[in-house]
Amino acid sequence: MKRIGIITSGGDAPGMNAAVRAIVRKAAHYGIEVYGVHRGFMGLINSDFVKLDISSVGDILHRGGTILLTARCDEFKTKEGQEKALKNLEAFGIEGVVVIGGDGSLRGANVLSNMGIPTIGIPTTIDNDIAFTDNCIGFDTAVNTVVDALNKVRDTATSHERTFVVEVMGRNAGHLALYTGLASGAEAILVPEIPFDLDAICEKIKSGYKRGKLHSIIVVAEGAASSIEVGKVIKEKTNLETRVIILGHLQRGGTPTAYDRILASRFGGKAVDLLKENVKDKMIGLINGELVLTDIDRVLSTPKPLDMELYQLADILSL
Ligand code: ADP
Ligand code: F6P
Repeated sequence: MKRIGIITSGGDAPGMNAAVRAIVRKAAHYGIEVYGVHRGFMGLINSDFVKLDISSVGDILHRGGTILLTARCDEFKTKEGQEKALKNLEAFGIEGVVVIGGDGSLRGANVLSNMGIPTIGIPTTIDNDIAFTDNCIGFDTAVNTVVDALNKVRDTATSHERTFVVEVMGRNAGHLALYTGLASGAEAILVPEIPFDLDAICEKIKSGYKRGKLHSIIVVAEGAASSIEVGKVIKEKTNLETRVIILGHLQRGGTPTAYDRILASRFGGKAVDLLKENVKDKMIGLINGELVLTDIDRVLSTPKPLDMELYQLADILSL
């Protein structure tokens, strides 16, 4: 393999740049040329390629976002779009591709492999909702960002003796809510995977205040419920001062943690090894500290379960 491409696609996540850097530098180590594709799969359709050398990825290891830009590209879901992309890749002599993104992007990677372009997927999303990897790039950073925000919320909540409902991202999954709720001692964590009882949560908040608690924090995963509605119900049922915060896209930004930089470096380096060995259509995951390869098809047909042990622990600890 003489020339490979890199795509960052879907929602950005801190650590994407660290993965791009690792791919470019590992490829340079083997004498393989690398082209970056701008704006996700859109760049394949528009032939928007940029040559990346070891210097063009300098000073990006610590930066959030993605220097390649990202996009959601519906045209790549169509046969015509896919054929255009294939033509452009062939015209450019790109023989293999690394796709850095979430589950949608992995579907795109699967399409490329099926069209004959060996493609490797690197799981990257703050939602951490991809099976066959303990962590996706970006999740650890987002967890720390949310925990930092919750520390600040706790200060003001305590001063005013208020209840705060904090909505976190995660799309249809509750991993980000669970980890941040546990790390922040939230009184309740609402996740889409588990039904919740708002009456019981309100009783818990009231009995906490009776015991002298100065604040309550309820973490709501965006896929579980409307935080605004949850806030309204809590206010009505507890008669306590309640505020709602939606953390939003700040959860996707910021400098990646050391953990995410190392994960991205490992995934990126391994992706180049795999393409060099003509491996295709695999996602690289991290399971119990080891790099593990799984067929992308299998990844896409397997839901990632919520860690029930953690959920139960969080529930017991949050009296
Ligand atoms: P994420 O990768 O963060 O989950 P999306 O679900 O928005 O984000 O997917 C990112 C992009 O991946 C889409 O905009 C599209 O270009 C590509 N993609 C998603 N699903 C498919 C599919 N079934 N076939 C081809 N490409 C797809
Ligand atoms: O998949 C990452 C994510 O940030 C989700 O948590 C969220 O639901 C979605 O992307 C937001 O997408 P957009 O950037 O299009 O608003």
